[in-house]
Amino acid sequence: MEKIDPWGSHLVKDYSRLIKDFGLEPMEDSFHDFPEPNYLMKRGIVFAGQGLKELAKAMQEKKPFYCLTGMMPSSERIHFGTKTVIEMVKYFQKQKAKTFILVADLESAATRGISLKEARERALNFYIPAYIALGLNPKKTTFYFQSENSEVKNLAYLFSQKITMNEFKSIYGEIHPSRILSALAQAGDILFPQTIERMPGVIPVGVDQSPHIRLSRDIVRRTKREFNFFLPSATYHKFVPALDGSNKMSKSSPNSFVSIPESPKDSGKKMLRALTGGRNTIEEQKKLGGQPEKCMVFEMYKQHLIEDEKTLQKVFDDCKKGKLLCKEDKENASNLIIKFQQNFQKKLEKAKKTRKQWKFFK
Ligand code: TRP
Repeated sequence: MEKIDPWGSHLVKDYSRLIKDFGLEPMEDSFHDFPEPNYLMKRGIVFAGQGLKELAKAMQEKKPFYCLTGMMPSSERIHFGTKTVIEMVKYFQKQKAKTFILVADLESAATRGISLKEARERALNFYIPAYIALGLNPKKTTFYFQSENSEVKNLAYLFSQKITMNEFKSIYGEIHPSRILSALAQAGDILFPQTIERMPGVIPVGVDQSPHIRLSRDIVRRTKREFNFFLPSATYHKFVPALDGSNKMSKSSPNSFVSIPESPKDSGKKMLRALTGGRNTIEEQKKLGGQPEKCMVFEMYKQHLIEDEKTLQKVFDDCKKGKLLCKEDKENASNLIIKFQQNFQKKLEKAKKTRKQWKFFK
């Protein structure tokens, strides 16, 4: 059985197994129901979700719905998984979702010992502008800090009555008081928009966050009489691949992950060193073709670097035919990521200047 730990860090090998073990809904079965599904949904990078049919229906019928996600301001950098979250938020914003982005400052205090003040500064100086640089529309977003949202905290307290220790253990495995508080606050976040207006909602997150969705859905079922909330829907994306093809998100292999931001040069170098599906010799590769299915560079294209379907297909075909060899391809990838980092820096500086437009809920 695959393990999911929202506070841990490991990569998943077998996503179909995960779907089975945790009763998730494959995106494959649902993306046709969504208006204008984006490339992440079509490619199965956003590979699963919960409550997808209900969500798609509400969107098709143009009913009001919300999109909410959050960030722990725990470092000075984000990674490509965050870009995927924002791509999904962008998609839902385009489909008229009421959008909420929260800063999980209570969670980072409880689980990482980061002071509320520090969390606040990081969020204002980096996280929020980074999200905007990645394409979030700040004019159509409500931001909040967990610590300043008394509704979220009140919900967390009310929810604490609805769940037993054994249920906590069965959802999260090992659990401590700090994690219990954080999980309840997160359930508060997930359902909070419905205290303003009862409506369906979607939480785009990495699959590591799925235990929190499960908890929230259990709570909704148990608070039917008090609150009558809609069950929250979620979309789950895959983990960012480690460039060396390993299955661990280890701090000891910083060369396997590109941070955002990062010096363009360093990112470029990382791509040049990535594991590919290349053959032993050039002759062999020209004859047999490459193996993009096993190639971390191709996985980066697919998940993050090439949105256009035709361009991606051409890389795939040329590689398969043995026409595009790994050296040239890695240089292309390296250039793409260099451009990405340069662009990001520019957009980040610009986004910082839009601070007056950000709306905070208190
Ligand atoms: N737990 C999330 C993280 O580790 C942050 C978070 C808090 C969150 N509340 C949320 C994410 C609600 C999505 C929805 O980054």
